[in-house]
Amino acid sequence: MAARLLVDCDPGHDDAVALVVAAHFGELVGITTVGGNAPLADVTANALLTCQLFGLDVEVHAGAVRPLVAAPRHAPEIHGVSGFDGPTLPDLERRPASTEAVDYLIETIRGEEGLWLVPTGPLTNVAIAIRQAPDLVDRLAGISFMGGSAGPGNRTPAAEFNLLVDPEAAAAVLSSGARIHMAGLDLTHQFTVDDALSADLRALGGPGAILLADLVDGYLDNAERVTGRRWGGLHDPCAVLAVTHPEVIESELRRVEVELAGTFTRGMTVVDLRAGDRRSSEAPNVHHGHTLDHPTARRLVLEAVAALDGEPAP
Ligand code: RIB
Ligand code: CA
Repeated sequence: MAARLLVDCDPGHDDAVALVVAAHFGELVGITTVGGNAPLADVTANALLTCQLFGLDVEVHAGAVRPLVAAPRHAPEIHGVSGFDGPTLPDLERRPASTEAVDYLIETIRGEEGLWLVPTGPLTNVAIAIRQAPDLVDRLAGISFMGGSAGPGNRTPAAEFNLLVDPEAAAAVLSSGARIHMAGLDLTHQFTVDDALSADLRALGGPGAILLADLVDGYLDNAERVTGRRWGGLHDPCAVLAVTHPEVIESELRRVEVELAGTFTRGMTVVDLRAGDRRSSEAPNVHHGHTLDHPTARRLVLEAVAALDGEPAP
């Protein structure tokens, strides 16, 4: 039986791809949104547009507009002001089911045991839900999140964006006792985003694939401006594939902490890579994904986009 998934996201193109992969290879039960790549209203509209374009009959519930403690932070330099900058977007015909994502998560997870929760943005909604309803931890099959890194960060030298936006939320989730799978930058940078991926998406020909190709082109233009390279990682689908296709990701159970106080390291994930060292005083808490079968993962993503997309233009 396909895994039943709840995705908490902040689209961005890679969140959009994650939604398509989740819907095709899993059973996408519901979507919640969180301010991250762009403000909440924008990422919610982008999630709704993704569902509209790919014909996903899934409710979208808007959630946290800002982090638990930190000031809001977005990524216009990478994803554009709207989070979907670049292409001309079709008119949005869908509306959010509610603005109460946390209530939706609590109610849905209490209503069905064994769901996977897949956060691909800041962990604010997830942390609030677990704080209000600690019983969720034992009802979930697990939490498979995109975020952090066992190596360098992206938004700062030490911190990955999702965890930098809300480190307090991430620390709460990683210490919640839930089964946790981590798709950090050290894994997701193995899923190459480049002009070849854009071309392969565009060659699928459907309206959704072409929009994703346009979004990837905009992302690569921004990456080239910010980093000097037309290259990036297709981050968020890795968190979904860790659930739907665990064979494409090798992982190791490790201790992972989130730095909250460091002047230069706030939001950093400290991943204990000392294999077998007994000096780690804390028990391992995270299945750290470290190696990706990129060719298979890439094939699966293109398969999902092609399968759920509309007909190519005549
Ligand atoms: O650092 C990468 C993460 O930040 C991805 O989830 C991307 O969508 C952005 O949210
Ligand atoms: Ca994201």
